[in-house]
Formats: sequence, structure tokens, C-alpha cells
Amino acid sequence: MNITPLTLKDCRQVAQLHQATFYRGWNEKDFESFLKELCVFGFKIEQKGVFCGYILWREVAGEAEILTLGISPSFKRMGMGNKLLNALVESLKAHRISKLFLEVAEDNQEAQDFYIKNGFISLGKRPNYYLRPENKLVHALSFLKSIEG
Ligand SMILES: CC(C)(COP(=O)(O)OP(=O)(O)OC[C@H]1O[C@@H](n2cnc3c(N)ncnc32)[C@H](O)[C@@H]1OP(=O)(O)O)[C@@H](O)C(=O)NCCC(=O)NCCS
Repeated sequence: MNITPLTLKDCRQVAQLHQATFYRGWNEKDFESFLKELCVFGFKIEQKGVFCGYILWREVAGEAEILTLGISPSFKRMGMGNKLLNALVESLKAHRISKLFLEVAEDNQEAQDFYIKNGFISLGKRPNYYLRPENKLVHALSFLKSIEG
């Protein structure tokens, strides 16, 4: 498995995976806009040259937030999410960032299990945040991981 920085050339396949994963997924231009921001960074993970997943985050004022993370369905439960998260944590340590935040939809149990397994603690919820079919709304749950240098 190989982890390297996300570049503008990766935006199409990252967007394809995001759109296959999430209701109202982000498109290629959305990812390009993120990566053009000075404080947004990403990694991709590949196996034998095949794109398997990505993580995108923002660093502001000594804190970081995961914007999105995704692993292709055929590569799930192989430790790739863990590897991307560990690579992010090492990068944040190098930047002396000690707090990593994220929000996840209340109906996304697999991601909540993944983040809790990785040491994130629940902070609370943002009510009625994510849109679902038939204009239904679900809460966003906020999580924090403290990173020790
Ligand atoms: C959440 C996600 C990134 C996890 O990636 P992954 O590569 O499959 O996760 P890993 O193989 O590294 O799993 C690490 C641990 O997390 C937990 N975990 C991961 N997926 C889980 C699931 N579906 N159910 C329960 N626990 C899970 C387990 O403890 C797992 O360890 P184990 O396999 O030894 O039991 C992946 O499921 C995904 O892309 N989901 C869709 C997109 C998404 O929801 N992203 C997060 C919101 S931004």
C-alpha cells in the first residue's frame, strides 16, 4: 500500500468515489477548489497502482478538521482507513497540531465505529444538518481526537 499527497490530477477519481458513497456527493470541481485552498491537504492510498481511497482535511489556527474520508467498497476492512488516518496524525504532529475534529452523519454507523475505534470522542451534535431523500434531515455528530506529540 502506498500513501501519497492528493493532487489536482486525483480530483476526478476522488469525486467519483465520493459521489458513489454519499448522498449529494461532491464533484471534481468541488475537490479542485478544496485543494487550491492553502490550508487544505489530502492523501490518497493505492495498492499496486490502483486508487483505493482518500482523506482530505483542513488546518486552521493550530487545529485540524477531516473534511472527508473514503475507501472504495472492494477495499474496505483491509486497514486502509486506519493507514490514511495514521498518516494524517503523523502529519499533524509534524505541524504541532494537537486537535483533530470531524463531523459524521448520525445514520453513518460504520464511520462512527471506525472513528471511535481510532480514539475519537463524541462532542455533541449539530441538529438536522445532512440532507437525505424526501427532504429528510439527519443530525451531524461532532467528534474530537487529541493528538499527543
Ligand atoms: C469509514 C471507512 C473510511 C473505514 O475505512 P476502512 O478502510 O474500511 O476501515 P479499516 O479497515 O481501517 O477499519 C479499522 C477499524 O474500524 C472499525 N470499522 C471499520 N469499518 C467498520 C464497520 N463497517 N463496522 C464496524 N466497525 C468498523 C473496525 O474496528 C476496524 O477494525 P477491524 O477491521 O480490525 O475490526 C469506510 O468504511 C468508508 O469509506 N465508509 C464510507 C465513507 C464514510 O463514511 N466516510 C467517513 C465519513 S467522512
